[in-house]
Amino acid sequence: MIDLRSDTVTQPCKDMRTYMANAPVGDDAYEEDKSVNLLQDYCKDLFGKEEALFVTSGMMANRLAFLIQTSPGDEVITEASYHVNFFDSAPMGAFAGVVMNPCRTEDGILRCSDVERAIFSKQRYDYFSQAKLISIENSINGWAGKIFPFEEMRSLYKLSRHQNISLHLDGARLFNSHVITNIPLKTYASNADTVSVCFSKGLGAPYGSMLMGKKELIQRAKKFRLWLGGGVHQAGMLAAGAYYALTHNLDHLKEDHQLAVYFAEKLKDIDEIQLNREEIETNMVQFSLKTPQLKTDVFMEKCSQRGLHFFPWLPNVMRAIVHRHISQENLDEAIEIIKLALLENQHRKVV
Ligand SMILES: Cc1ncc(COP(=O)(O)O)c(C=O)c1O
Repeated sequence: MIDLRSDTVTQPCKDMRTYMANAPVGDDAYEEDKSVNLLQDYCKDLFGKEEALFVTSGMMANRLAFLIQTSPGDEVITEASYHVNFFDSAPMGAFAGVVMNPCRTEDGILRCSDVERAIFSKQRYDYFSQAKLISIENSINGWAGKIFPFEEMRSLYKLSRHQNISLHLDGARLFNSHVITNIPLKTYASNADTVSVCFSKGLGAPYGSMLMGKKELIQRAKKFRLWLGGGVHQAGMLAAGAYYALTHNLDHLKEDHQLAVYFAEKLKDIDEIQLNREEIETNMVQFSLKTPQLKTDVFMEKCSQRGLHFFPWLPNVMRAIVHRHISQENLDEAIEIIKLALLENQHRKVV
């Protein structure tokens, strides 16, 4: 099976499992879990934030970021394709009670002009919802892992100071952007009020995300984590997996990026495939079919039957993510499977 659906399918390696099994644990409700404390302290230092909170998942981290920086009825400005809106707007409405104001941009980058338009396109009478949070994403999942330009982030942060609005960075794949741009994680973090990162994507840990920000904010996040049922008592083994991933697997992301380009180059040479090679910046490839007679879901099913899996992003757009379990040989094999699936379709047409 060649599973290109997501980097969330990565599994802990043997050494990581051993490290996890031997991790000291305690009750994290009393802040006595040494492995959780080690990971949180490590992240505080790495990102230069006052406080860090280990949470179950990327969605939990984003949910908490919204809960601590808004009140029910407040507005969150984001880009329509960002995970907090595209996948997560219903629970954000249900649990944080916020109103999403999603901007549709031409290239997936939420800029100051978009945010200003979103804020000032109507009078903000007292009884209207008030914009309280801007939420951005880096790398951008819905735009084939595009790196959010740092200068745009800095400008947004400045604007957010003028407008008295908070800025959250959903950095589920910030590590992917960081290993390419070499911009220190501290520099990214110093241009946002809250930052979340995931350990269970390209880094290969089985569990967990970190939410970081000012002490007082993260203290509130801790309360909401408990309210949402996310208080894991002996979380140390899970934190140890994340710590191992962070201290051993960061560099490997570069190989994923190189292989994503390799895959895109090969895909681009197939006549029936539509893809923009230039847009591949990290570990993702988005592509579609030029064949009106072959529907995306039928094509994906044909590939699946041969052991190759993609993620259906939009009705006619597929996403492939390269991760630590994928080799160049796997990608060569994937290309052969794709060609076979397309060939089968041509035969059908002739018959
Ligand atoms: C940008 C982004 N944010 C948040 C999440 C949610 O992460 P999790 O699956 O750990 O809840 C994802 C998941 O892929 C994501 O791509």
